[in-house]
Amino acid sequence: MQTFHIRTFGCQMNEADSQEIREMLLSLGLTETENWENADLVLVNTCSVRKKAEEKAFSFIGETRAWREADSGRRLAVMGCIAARDPDGIRRRFEFVDAIIPGKDLDAMKKSVRDILPEDLALLPHLSGYPASNHGSSPVVGMVSVIRGCNNACSFCIVPYVRGREVSVPPEKVVDRVARLVEGGSAEIYLLGQSILDYGKEWTPPFLLEDLLAKVASEVPGLRRLRFITSHPKDVTRRLVEAVRDIPLVAPYFHIPFQSGSDKILERMRRDITVQQYYETVDLIRSTIPSASISTDIIVGFPGETDEDFEGTMEVVERVRFDGAFVFKYSPREHTLARLKWGDPVPPTVKSQRFIRLYNRVKDIVFEKNREKVGTIGEVLVEGARDGMLYGRLADYRMTHFRGPPEWIGQLIPVRIESAQNWSLRAVALSEHTSINFSEARPGNHQEVIAS
Ligand code: 5AD
Ligand code: SF4
Repeated sequence: MQTFHIRTFGCQMNEADSQEIREMLLSLGLTETENWENADLVLVNTCSVRKKAEEKAFSFIGETRAWREADSGRRLAVMGCIAARDPDGIRRRFEFVDAIIPGKDLDAMKKSVRDILPEDLALLPHLSGYPASNHGSSPVVGMVSVIRGCNNACSFCIVPYVRGREVSVPPEKVVDRVARLVEGGSAEIYLLGQSILDYGKEWTPPFLLEDLLAKVASEVPGLRRLRFITSHPKDVTRRLVEAVRDIPLVAPYFHIPFQSGSDKILERMRRDITVQQYYETVDLIRSTIPSASISTDIIVGFPGETDEDFEGTMEVVERVRFDGAFVFKYSPREHTLARLKWGDPVPPTVKSQRFIRLYNRVKDIVFEKNREKVGTIGEVLVEGARDGMLYGRLADYRMTHFRGPPEWIGQLIPVRIESAQNWSLRAVALSEHTSINFSEARPGNHQEVIAS
């Protein structure tokens, strides 16, 4: 067995798990291939959050049948949330799958992957201590899961079922992981959790997310930017917001899903928050950090959502003017209270109409807010190059495209915003002629900018 391929669906926590497993396989001497048909080992990391996400994974697993059956030495594993939701269903439908590996516990996942490798590979030492240079370069933006599982009980959500109760990763382990990714070339780190503001609450004394942000920011040399997602709005505290304001490496960005603008629906969703309280959270953030950007998740067509409830959702969007938003149509999930109690009564056409109206309004507002950025200056962390342009995000999470040499990938580059698009910005890299003191901002890169 020589080559592997990992296909990842779903959220960034899945990406983080895939990255750790990738590093383990590289450390065992396997090489990664972009084309799964050339691989000896294929891992599919799956998502169950909505039906559509599951269907994408199922369709890919189906495609691998001929590949797996053509050679008995090949191995195929299905990991992550579908593996937890319905292992028997996977076994029945795809009997050629070699292993089904739920995503609750990363060490257990690694062990299960090792168990399907040939013995000579699986026995090599691997879990700790292999040098950073062995695992290839890290992505420019590294993902680190700091809390797994979710103790909330939102009635629509399958995550508590597939990922279990919350378990926080000890701070030292988080720092080690961040340091490792930064050594491998990551400049920005996203700390991840389904409900990240519960981080460290299970310990006595607690060691909360704001404590973790301070620790990571001060203990990892070379780290340029730090972000955290996803925050439940009911758990946003003044102490946290002030930490985001006061720790320079932490990006002033909050992803706080509100899901619905109707108190009746929020109660059915068991969100444990009212619309008024959501506004107070937004006010707390904006009054403490005027430049903060706020994004959200919204569900339309939840059981019992009337036209009036939906208007409430439109009103929240109008009043908060989000910097970004993900809009979803309600998808009934197995094992959830909402599906058990209410099924899926809102007709698909109504869901679609609401979705389109909401999506278009969100898009227009994001565009208007993007236009307000034209003429401002910021720093983009360059993630890659596409179609002759570099791309990356500003601290406020706005995707930005500009011209520059590929050597800038992985660096923070000061830019001026030139124009706005629906979901992104166009910019120009700043030269030494602008008001920003460039040589101070990016020691050592003066020449490159002049050359551009
Ligand atoms: N149907 C639709 N959207 C859902 N989400 C979670 N569960 C469902 C569901 N059953 C959305 C929520 C959550 C985001 C990750 O996915 O908005 O914040
Ligand atoms: Fe999908 Fe949620 Fe699982 Fe992430 S945790 S893969 S979003 S179901």
